[in-house]
Amino acid sequence: MTDDGRAGVRLGAVQQTLMIPLYGRAVETGKRRPLLSDPHAVRIVESIDYDFTQMKAFRGGARGAVLRTAMFDEWVRRFLTEHPGGTVVEVGTGLNTRFERLDNGSVSWFDLDLPDVIELRRRFFTDTDRRRMLAGSVLDPAWVETVKASRGPYLFVAEAVLLYFEPEQVEQAIRHITTNFPGASLALDTGGRVMADSVNRNDVMREMGARMTWVCEDPAELERLGLRLLDSRTLAQPQPELRARMPLRFRALSAVMGALFRRQVRSYHLNLFQIPEGSDGR
Ligand SMILES: C[S@@+](CC[C@H](N)C(=O)[O-])C[C@H]1O[C@@H](n2cnc3c(N)ncnc32)[C@H](O)[C@@H]1O
Repeated sequence: MTDDGRAGVRLGAVQQTLMIPLYGRAVETGKRRPLLSDPHAVRIVESIDYDFTQMKAFRGGARGAVLRTAMFDEWVRRFLTEHPGGTVVEVGTGLNTRFERLDNGSVSWFDLDLPDVIELRRRFFTDTDRRRMLAGSVLDPAWVETVKASRGPYLFVAEAVLLYFEPEQVEQAIRHITTNFPGASLALDTGGRVMADSVNRNDVMREMGARMTWVCEDPAELERLGLRLLDSRTLAQPQPELRARMPLRFRALSAVMGALFRRQVRSYHLNLFQIPEGSDGR
């Protein structure tokens, strides 16, 4: 605890990357017409002892993270419209507040992350009947039975998580899901070499010591793991429902990115997969 009462933070390198989207959502909330409003992110940023100075210079990245989050939100929203009593599993949840944004009063929700992140998370969130935190790695199947005990259908969301895994760890994480949850949906992002090089050159990421180690040029490659690709979008291609609600700032961002940073934008995809019933993950 600091003199001014802010809580200290001790996190591993990859875990620290959660600060980027958290900071992005907090800043976005202060805008006149925010793309998403997240008062919890504002409260958390104000109450932890973490140096956000560098992130102030990385506003473009934080804004990109907000757009990314809004696009993942859109898929979750659609899932909840079709399956209001289903289960959402946020893999590598960080300090995300998707449940607060999208809770429909009947969904069951799990927030899974590494123990140090869940310890931090517990300072700001509490478990309820429908919403529980799970401390552990997605690579360790200890979480599987707990999630299986919850009612399907299931949607797994891994936003900005697998990018930092080794390729074999990505396969392992996906196989835990495909073998145990046939019929489930899985939303995850993929980045190619252009994206990886740009992330790994970034000062904020270097300072954190996090590296993007999984390079995936074509999300359809993952179909060999027993997935079917339903939708794949760059940040310049938000879903039409989202685009219709987007403030001008974000429409401009999306258009400018699409025009000026074509190679980078095309190198990063947000993807929605389905695990066909009867898939055994091979
Ligand atoms: C860039 S942050 C994204 C956080 C959150 N998804 C969001 O968008 O705000 C990456 C997150 O993945 C988590 N993570 C890394 N390795 C993990 C693992 N093996 N199992 C579960 N979570 C993991 C980190 O702790 C961190 O919270």
